[in-house]
Amino acid sequence: MGKRGRRIVTVAGVGLAVALVGAQLVPVDRTNPPVRNDVGAPAEVAAVLRAACYDCHSHETRWPWYSRVAPLSWSIARHVEEGREELNFSNWPVVDFTAQDELLREVAHEVEKDGMPLASYRWGHPEARLSAAQRDILVRWARGE
Ligand code: HEC
Repeated sequence: MGKRGRRIVTVAGVGLAVALVGAQLVPVDRTNPPVRNDVGAPAEVAAVLRAACYDCHSHETRWPWYSRVAPLSWSIARHVEEGREELNFSNWPVVDFTAQDELLREVAHEVEKDGMPLASYRWGHPEARLSAAQRDILVRWARGE
């Protein structure tokens, strides 16, 4: 590589380093608001939900060290935000049975087709790779069986 080539590589490297350091300064919301009303599932069900779903669908998110490192932190925080919006086991509807039924139907649907947890999440969370038996526990509970 010539002198010019080396200079280009150096400038690109410094640029990338500056961008990565700068990225760490972007504020990311990693809060766990108070639990309003936990879904209150039976122990056997709750154990599976906590292992595989609560990080994105509750106010009891376990924020791993890499959730503090941009740009990964942005993607994790977005998943938690969107997950809590769609389904929040810490903010379970209290007397709205229609809302409860709707959420439970979606849970059964997602778990049955193995659509949740997100594939990217399973990668770093072996405890969230549910067996057929664990999925069955969730589906039967969600269906009220
Ligand atoms: C890594 C984060 C993450 C985990 C863990 C996770 N989810 Fe989700 N979930 C999301 C996100 C993000 C959405 C909204 C976007 C989408 O549907 O893909 C979502 C959406 C959903 C929905 C709504 C689907 C729809 O289309 O209306 C259901 C139901 C759901 N998840 C159930 C679960 C269950 C049950 C578990 C555990 C077995 C789980 N999720 C684990 C992130 C997660």
